[in-house]
Amino acid sequence: MENKNRAQFATRLGVIATTVGSAVGLGNIWRFPYEAGAHGGGAFLLIYILFILMLGIPVICAEFIMGRGTRSNIFGAYRKLHSRPQWAWVGYIGILASLMILSFYSVVAGWTLEYFFQSIGACFSDTSSVDRHQVFDTFATGWRSPMWSIIFLIVNGCILLRGVQKGIEKVSNILMPVLFVILILFCINSLTLPGAAQGLEFLFLPDFSKVDSSVLLGALGQAFFSLSLGLGTMLTYASYFSDKTPLVKSATTTALLDTLVAILAGIIIFPAVFSFNAEPTAGPKLVFEVLPSIFYQMPFGIGWSTLFFFLLFLASLTSTISMSEIAIAFFTEQLGMTRRAATLLNTGIAILFGTLCALSFGSLSDFTICGLTIFNLFDYVSSNILLPLGGMLISIFVGWVIDKKIVKAQLQGAGALLPWVLNLIVFSLRYIAPIGIALVFFAGLGII
Ligand code: TRP
Repeated sequence: MENKNRAQFATRLGVIATTVGSAVGLGNIWRFPYEAGAHGGGAFLLIYILFILMLGIPVICAEFIMGRGTRSNIFGAYRKLHSRPQWAWVGYIGILASLMILSFYSVVAGWTLEYFFQSIGACFSDTSSVDRHQVFDTFATGWRSPMWSIIFLIVNGCILLRGVQKGIEKVSNILMPVLFVILILFCINSLTLPGAAQGLEFLFLPDFSKVDSSVLLGALGQAFFSLSLGLGTMLTYASYFSDKTPLVKSATTTALLDTLVAILAGIIIFPAVFSFNAEPTAGPKLVFEVLPSIFYQMPFGIGWSTLFFFLLFLASLTSTISMSEIAIAFFTEQLGMTRRAATLLNTGIAILFGTLCALSFGSLSDFTICGLTIFNLFDYVSSNILLPLGGMLISIFVGWVIDKKIVKAQLQGAGALLPWVLNLIVFSLRYIAPIGIALVFFAGLGII
């Protein structure tokens, strides 16, 4: 069943750096704080952590099992594990959704580049009286936004062209440690701000009065988005694991480090928000409108701002690399393309749809489908519908459909796994994950 010429990650560090690199991204630093801000802070955090532990870790394991078990892209993995072609359709959903996410994600990633250069530029001008809302609006509705997303996608493509070990693994090994150091620096700075206590209270003290089914769906969507689950990102990366990589341990480490980064991002952002009387519920613009005005009031603010947007850029890059690899692996293995052609195709599609998403803040802002702009539609359909759906189907497939021997052999690896851990994961994949995801999913959509 295995293909001997397939690429593999060279080291154990590479495995963790790439999977954590995929998981940690805008989802943690941009999306998590505004979702938590809008949904009651501490209560959202608690539900989010619960979902990560109960649903997230088992579903990562499921993707790992399929990926390493078949050493194949998502479509090929379903095909190899089951004779019915219907299941392979789930693979198509993953590939489609990964292209959708890449398109809107690269817009926000492009914004991080604009803000990075704006921060550097601020050294040379007086920024004290600037209206940040105005700055963001003018930028996001203009031509620079699509330009940056295209530049970002080209950088992304150049790394992917270099392949799995020399491109993806090498870049992750360098960028992830840098990212952690910058995060810690920010945390220390934030905790010394006057509003630190209030910010931490907002993040850690749960207020359950704000919790309803849409908050639950939001937390589930956020958990899956942040762990890069449901579309086959983790599956594709696991297809590059060696036989010795312990799956359960890697899944748990990835989930814990990813959650840690989301919490660190909250610790960085909320004290700053409260210190400078900003609104924690500002939504997607939180880090782009609120943070710059806060940074510029702080000592060495321009330096902090430059560093922060550089951090966001790095985090985005390791994530878009992983999203792109889903389609690239599919194009090369199923359609027989060269890596170069596959990367160009992936980048081309993302540039086309990414530009539409970027323009939906400006000239295309009146073009809506079901009341949503293209950007919001891509985000909503992929994060709140396709990710949970993909996650549910993967857990059903691994829990019920495929041969249990494969599941056992993959999870057990060198035999180091305790039997109860194995049983717990299988139980969760059979019952807790599919039922839990289904309940939250349908309730959130207002169906039950
Ligand atoms: N997890 C990444 C983040 O938090 C985004 C991401 C990468 C992703 N690959 C994905 C999200 C696949 C959904 C599906 O920013």
